[in-house]
Amino acid sequence: MAERKEIDLRAAINAISDVVQNRPRPLREMDQIYMKTGDMVLQSEMVAKWADGKRLAFIGDGDAISVSVAYLMSREILNYGPAKIQVFDFDERICGAIKRFADREGIEMLDSTLYNVLEAFPNIGEFDCFYTNPPWGASNGGDSVNVFSQRGMEAVGNKGEGMIVIADDHELEWPQQVLAAVQKFVLSAGFYVQRMASKVHHYHLDDNPDLRSCNLMIKSLPGILPPQNSEPISDQARLEHFYGRDHPIKIRYVREKKRVDYGKAHDDEYCYETFVEEGK
Ligand SMILES: C[S@@+](CC[C@H](N)C(=O)[O-])C[C@H]1O[C@@H](n2cnc3c(N)ncnc32)[C@H](O)[C@@H]1O
Repeated sequence: MAERKEIDLRAAINAISDVVQNRPRPLREMDQIYMKTGDMVLQSEMVAKWADGKRLAFIGDGDAISVSVAYLMSREILNYGPAKIQVFDFDERICGAIKRFADREGIEMLDSTLYNVLEAFPNIGEFDCFYTNPPWGASNGGDSVNVFSQRGMEAVGNKGEGMIVIADDHELEWPQQVLAAVQKFVLSAGFYVQRMASKVHHYHLDDNPDLRSCNLMIKSLPGILPPQNSEPISDQARLEHFYGRDHPIKIRYVREKKRVDYGKAHDDEYCYETFVEEGK
């Protein structure tokens, strides 16, 4: 196996800057809150090492860590990383932006599927590991995190590893409650917590810019049975306050109305006022 080369930081930051240009604007009411660029570089390098040679499913990915990992590999800034990346997200703008980026850059190992986590998971057991940065569950005791994690565990067919990215604050009460609830949930599903990297990412979060998240790494216990099938989620108790207090999940898909070039100003954002020509 070739030695892992050191990352060229300038090249990596410039590559992630291309990815950031391609991200659709976040919908705050759907808890889309994007990770900051410096943390994306470090996170992508870490994910590439963790999922080296594996088939990796993203359960939701507004942050575009999937695209960052694939692009760093295709630009040969990283000489290791996953063999395949598939993003499952209910936002058609995100799925479309991923497909267009992959097409333009000729990245064949990266693709996306329009999918809502409330519905049965379509590709059980087709992956070796999963990554999710879900709605953090501040108002639902972690139920929203657990719905996304459940889909991740189905993606790996209860045989593999997962990285769950959630709020981490040792003073605030709710992130600690959520961390405990998620750990209980994954243990009850036959997984265990392998390690946790605490308070490693910052976000563009206007009402709490200091709130950070951790990487909670889980692994299936040897010998647990694969899921027989995947069921839609109908238990209303798990769905109330999904995106925050009194924001239940009602939307199946976010549809893309108009294809925009995210790196450029939209034409409805501005108009030109010219110099008045002399003599007129
Ligand atoms: C909710 S955000 C969480 C914050 C994260 N930093 C981000 O912005 O990506 C995670 C991703 O999950 C997606 N998502 C939200 N609700 C979903 C659902 N019901 N089914 C599938 N994906 C969903 C969002 O579109 C987004 O890309």
